[in-house]
Amino acid sequence: MKVHVADHPLISHKLTILRDEKTDSPTFRRLVEELVTLLAYEATRDVRTKTVEVKTPVTLTQGLKMAGPTPVVVPILRAGLGMLEGMVRLIPTAEVGFLGMVRNEETLEASTYANRLPDDLSGRQCFVLDPMLATGGTLVAAINYLIDLGATDITAICILAAPEGIAHMEQAFENSPVPITIVTGALDIKLNENGYIVPGLGDAGDRLYGVV
Ligand code: URA
Repeated sequence: MKVHVADHPLISHKLTILRDEKTDSPTFRRLVEELVTLLAYEATRDVRTKTVEVKTPVTLTQGLKMAGPTPVVVPILRAGLGMLEGMVRLIPTAEVGFLGMVRNEETLEASTYANRLPDDLSGRQCFVLDPMLATGGTLVAAINYLIDLGATDITAICILAAPEGIAHMEQAFENSPVPITIVTGALDIKLNENGYIVPGLGDAGDRLYGVV
């Protein structure tokens, strides 16, 4: 498994505003979108391409275009939905599948409550959107779900990650034949006793959409 901590001053700047408890929901949503676009730039570094001919006003030349099959973007509901716009802005041709995962706040176990995905993901590059890699339970369950559907290449894009979540992922996918990559905006210090990332930004879903 590859882990890429995006190290860019613009990402750090936006993250700092995101972490601030005084940042309101509209600003938070806009910043998440902007951050995802920056992270997606890194996450799509190995997106499949093909060589094509292009006629410029000056001459015929060769260039690269994205090759099929189209990548699949999978936001994990609810908080991953806040990342979708920023991702499809970068890859407008991507297909979007949805995965609803909920975390039991006592056991911290993740389970699926909804899914809308192609039945067969064979040969597809998948980009999973989940803002907070905390215990890793949700992401491990989601990625296993995509592997079972045949996904051949999976990249998770997270705004923040905790070392405990990365360790859980490393252990879960140690022998995985499917290449797994994590791209995160920052690697924070730890999880607290309630499973929140420290220093973190609080509950990403609540900060995006309010408490429901
Ligand atoms: N989910 C969140 O929204 N925040 C955390 O800190 C951990 C999990």
